[in-house]
Amino acid sequence: MSRVAVVTGGTRGIGEAISVALKNAGYKVAANYCGNDDRAKAFSEKTGIPVYKFDVADFDAVCAAMTKIAADLGPIEIIVNNAGITRDATMKKMGRAGWDEVVDTNLGGCFNMCKAAWDGMLERGFGRVVNIGSINGQAGQYGQVNYAAAKSGIHGFTKALSQEGASKGITVNAIAPGYIDTDMVAAVPPNVLEKIVAKIPVGRLGKASEIARGVLFLVADDAGFVTGSTMSINGGQHMY
Ligand code: CAA
Repeated sequence: MSRVAVVTGGTRGIGEAISVALKNAGYKVAANYCGNDDRAKAFSEKTGIPVYKFDVADFDAVCAAMTKIAADLGPIEIIVNNAGITRDATMKKMGRAGWDEVVDTNLGGCFNMCKAAWDGMLERGFGRVVNIGSINGQAGQYGQVNYAAAKSGIHGFTKALSQEGASKGITVNAIAPGYIDTDMVAAVPPNVLEKIVAKIPVGRLGKASEIARGVLFLVADDAGFVTGSTMSINGGQHMY
């Protein structure tokens, strides 16, 4: 049986690697994106993975899209909540909008996606949820009160929801990536990034495929005893 997986932010960066790894492992994948039509089109043409445009922060849009995905591909059994944005600024410079956007997308998106799929998972007695947190949700980061709070919230969300799913065949886990070689990390000022990389014991940025490796483990049918956990994949930068 080929299970259906939805990957949010699934056409670029870490999400792209996750979508492709899941497809290569035999899952039926739907990749969500929100903004970049050209990249999504190129991704879909290259991989053959269907793409669905919606804003994970918009609950009604999420519900409509999840209904469509289920009609197209089948019942949704796996969700990878990967969509995330940064609006880095010090507290002094951060406006309320920069807080709301990040919290609504990175954390609110997890609620919206899980809420839309949860009843179906309960009815079928099977589900896998993987939430992509961050080293910066574990350790904090200068200039990221919004992002660190949202990602830290993801770790609490994961632990709470895992307790509700545990006896129903649904696992809920998180992965906390460190600094991965993506567009998001490339946007960090070079002088700041240089200092961060110097603190990674493995001595380099991570690869998106190294996060996808963890996702494949957590969504597997035989990973049913792993729930409520956080897998840190960060080159040894933060041991939590
Ligand atoms: N620790 C202590 N001080 C710091 C600091 C740090 N990490 N980073 C910057 N500062 C200090 C600077 O030295 C500077 O001090 P002075 O004024 O005394 O010289 C002051 O803060 C202002 O620094 P900037 O000139 O950089 O100020 P800015 O307002 O232009 O930018 C910033 C501030 C937005 C925080 C910028 O430094 C930045 O983008 N930093 C990167 C933040 C980061 O790591 N984001 C991660 C993005 S990737 C991601 O989030 C993925 C993931 O999950 C890992």
